[in-house]
Order: sequence, then C-alpha cells, then structure tokens
Amino acid sequence: MDVTVLHFDTIDSTNTEALKQARLGAEEGLCIVARQQTAGRGRHGRVWVSEKDAGLYFSIVLRPKFDTQYLPLITLMAGVAVHDALSEFGIEADIKWVNDLLVGERKICGILAETTETDRGIAVIVGIGVNLKSSNFPPEISETATSIEEELTAAGNAGNVSGDVLAETLTRYLSYFYVLLDSPEGPAAIVEEWRRRSSYFSGKRVRVVQEGEAVIGTTDGLEQNGALRLRTDDGQMLMVQAGDVERVRPERMEAGG
Ligand code: BTN
Repeated sequence: MDVTVLHFDTIDSTNTEALKQARLGAEEGLCIVARQQTAGRGRHGRVWVSEKDAGLYFSIVLRPKFDTQYLPLITLMAGVAVHDALSEFGIEADIKWVNDLLVGERKICGILAETTETDRGIAVIVGIGVNLKSSNFPPEISETATSIEEELTAAGNAGNVSGDVLAETLTRYLSYFYVLLDSPEGPAAIVEEWRRRSSYFSGKRVRVVQEGEAVIGTTDGLEQNGALRLRTDDGQMLMVQAGDVERVRPERMEAGG
C-alpha cells in the first residue's frame, strides 16, 4: 500500500478530515496527522483529549476489497500494528478487546474505525490516538492512562519519541498487516497475530457492557470475524460484536475466612 501523509497543525478531528477526503475520492493509504485536535473523538461518542504535541493523532483511509464480514478485523489488525510499532520503542503493550493498547493496565492508545460509502465503494477510516506525554492529562484520566514518555521514564530510558517518527513506524506496520489481512488466509492470520499479543484472548475474567447491560464471564477466543467469545457464568456462550470490556479482578481471599 502506498502511503501519503497530510500534516495539519490544528484540526477538528483527523477522522473527520479522512472521512471527508475519502468521500472526495482519496486513494487508499492517505494519512492525516495533526499536532492538535479541537474535537477529537473516541469510541461511543466520548471525547479524545488532544492537546498540542501530547499525542499522535493519526487517521488512515482504507478501501478494503475483501468480504465485508471481515471488516471488523480491520480494528484488530490496527491494534496489532500499533502493538508492534510501540514495541520498536521498547514498549510492550497488551491489547484489550477490541482495540485498546494498555501498559500495566493503563491505556496508551485508542483506535476508532469508522466506515463511509463513497463513489468508489466503502471506505474505512482507522483513527489512532497514541499518548506521547502524560503532562497534559486531565485529572479524570491520569489514573487510567499512560504515555510513551511516562513508560520510558519509568523504565529508566530518558528520551522522547516524536509523533513523526512514531507515525512513520506505524504506517510501516499498518501496511504490512493490512496486506496480510487482504490475503487468502488473512482473516485467520490476523486473529492469530492478535492472539499472540493479547492477554484478553482467552481465560480472562471480564465484564462486558453492551447497550447499558453488563455481563460477566471468561473470554474464550475470537470468532473468524473478530467477535469475542464470552463464556458467561451461567454457562452460555456469547458472541460479543461491540461493547466495552473491562477486566474483573478475582475477589481477594481473606486468610482464615
Ligand atoms: C477510543 O479509545 O475511544 C478511540 C480513540 C481514538 C482517538 C483517535 S485520535 C486520531 C483520530 N481522530 C479522532 O477524532 N479520533 C481518533
């Protein structure tokens, strides 16, 4: 995949711009990168705090030609690509279904995939936000979020990773795994790559919230299209297509009682 990068100083949302460009006929591989977003979006209508130079704010236009049943695998593919890009900088992240990158259970990256119909067929926009610095985190997320700078400092590796260098590394991995996904054995290969990088694949106690309803169970692998299999405590097997997953900690056993 050929990659072209458009840089912005300030933008409302790189996803909004990428959606607009896709509708105008942009080629697959167009990337939008901004130093700051004024209306950064997260999943489920949440705000993605996007202070200047505190994060990588990145979106890519894709025009997948494979069977639409596998479209959800694009988000898993992106999680795998971010995982490997972070690994190049010495950061070993976990992937929480469907596509949050966590370090020590704190979020370092979020991914928002959005689709749109265009004259050239369906386009998928993959928006990726990676925290570069923690200094601008508002108090409500400082407990649950981390950044590349914070993790490198904690590991005794002073130094920064610039957004541009990270974007370059990320586009390399996105190209690689997207081409893999588009190959005949691609869907199974992406599920396998995801399995290797995620502790959430199986045996994890989680609470899943879907449309306000919470279910607790144990993860039991992924379906071919990326849906999470959840074995509930009453023995049912649920296929989770969308929703928020949170780890459930085992209850503490008190000595003597
Ligand atoms: C989430 O975890 O809720 C997803 C967050 C996605 C944030 C990125 S930042 C770049 C792109 N532009 C946006 O408005 N959102 C995504």
